[in-house]
Amino acid sequence: MQVDCHSHILPGVDDGARTLEQSLVMARVAVAQGTDRMFATPHGYTSSFHVDPHVILEKTRVLHTALQEAQIPLKVLPGMEVHHFVRAHGGESEDLLRLQQQSALGLGGYRNPRHVLLEFSFDDWPRDAGDTLRQCKMAGIQVVLAHPERYIALQKSPDLIEQALEQGAWMQLTSGSILGRFGSKAQELSRLWLSQGYIHIVASDAHGPTRPPGLQEAYDHIEREWGLGEWGQRCQDNAESIWETALSEMAKQA
Ligand SMILES: [Fe+2]
Repeated sequence: MQVDCHSHILPGVDDGARTLEQSLVMARVAVAQGTDRMFATPHGYTSSFHVDPHVILEKTRVLHTALQEAQIPLKVLPGMEVHHFVRAHGGESEDLLRLQQQSALGLGGYRNPRHVLLEFSFDDWPRDAGDTLRQCKMAGIQVVLAHPERYIALQKSPDLIEQALEQGAWMQLTSGSILGRFGSKAQELSRLWLSQGYIHIVASDAHGPTRPPGLQEAYDHIEREWGLGEWGQRCQDNAESIWETALSEMAKQA
């Protein structure tokens, strides 16, 4: 059974599930595809969406109860897909400040986050990428960079990813990219980077019926079509470790 580190399953907060009923449909699809644990990661700080951390925490609790009542065997923890704020003139990372001030959530959502799902611009590689990742690392926060294979900047210049890897960032592929649902470039980069050992996480980034959750099909593709099953396994192990770390932070703060 698997952990999904990126989903928009919380109802009525962003461009993901619109209703609780849709959330439950997504949950059933996820479970059928082998997912039994999922981080709910609504958008934070994009130009279109920002979901307040308190809303995320409360809606996650409500969804958790609804899943239990519907007898759907999916556990959900809060998180956020934090959109990167580019600092024009250096200084302390705004992303890091937001996490430290609890105006952004890490994966697990609790004080002292150990992992954060960070999203860069789709169009331009941020000029302060290296600084941001370095500062998070020094603060003991592991950055998981959301769907790099879908960034236009990296599709044009794939080597830029090495700047992020040098700073210790983890890379999260989207299961749909592996399956070709985000175009041939995203699929080619997925295969290339997996084969190079550049990828640490596979997640669904599920948004609803048109972008459903589910990871097993992608892992099967990695193994059967690309012969890269060992890297798929590594991704599953990393996702597990994020979940376990979040649970242990929760226990400390309870
Ligand atoms: Fe997302």
